Amino acid sequence: MKTNKTMARLALTCLASIATLAVAAEPVNLEAAKQLAQTCQACHGADGNSTAAIYPRLAGQYPDYLARALHEYREGNRVNPIMSVYAEKLSDQDIRNLAAYFSAMPGQLVDLHGRMQGE
Ligand code: HEC
Repeated sequence: MKTNKTMARLALTCLASIATLAVAAEPVNLEAAKQLAQTCQACHGADGNSTAAIYPRLAGQYPDYLARALHEYREGNRVNPIMSVYAEKLSDQDIRNLAAYFSAMPGQLVDLHGRMQGE
């Protein structure tokens, strides 16, 4: 009986450590993002608010939207000759970092009201 209890305790401990491993993604590193973002800022603006219409504003955008876009460029599900080149070099952690970094910048996003063709 005692052995059963010990085994059960051991099993629980194992499960607990597996659960911990599964959720332990590296925390966001904004310093690393700042370095990487220098390349991006040439097009997307130093403050993430590009003024040229062909470069989307990243500042203040939802982080999961930014991350998803970067994953899609990297995996080829969203195709753009420029962004594919930059995204293919990014790791999952780079993407998490960059998404948090740009998202935290004060944004000047606007909706497309009055700017859509045919409106
Ligand atoms: C040489 C110019 C250039 C550079 C450098 C660049 N981008 Fe882009 N980026 C673009 C263009 C152009 C688009 C729009 C592409 C499209 O229509 O899908 C874009 C789109 C994006 C989008 C999608 C935005 C949206 O609203 O859907 C994200 C996110 C993004 N870039 C992040 C980055 C990051 C992060 C970097 C740096 C690692 C970077 N970009 C570097 C030109 C650039």
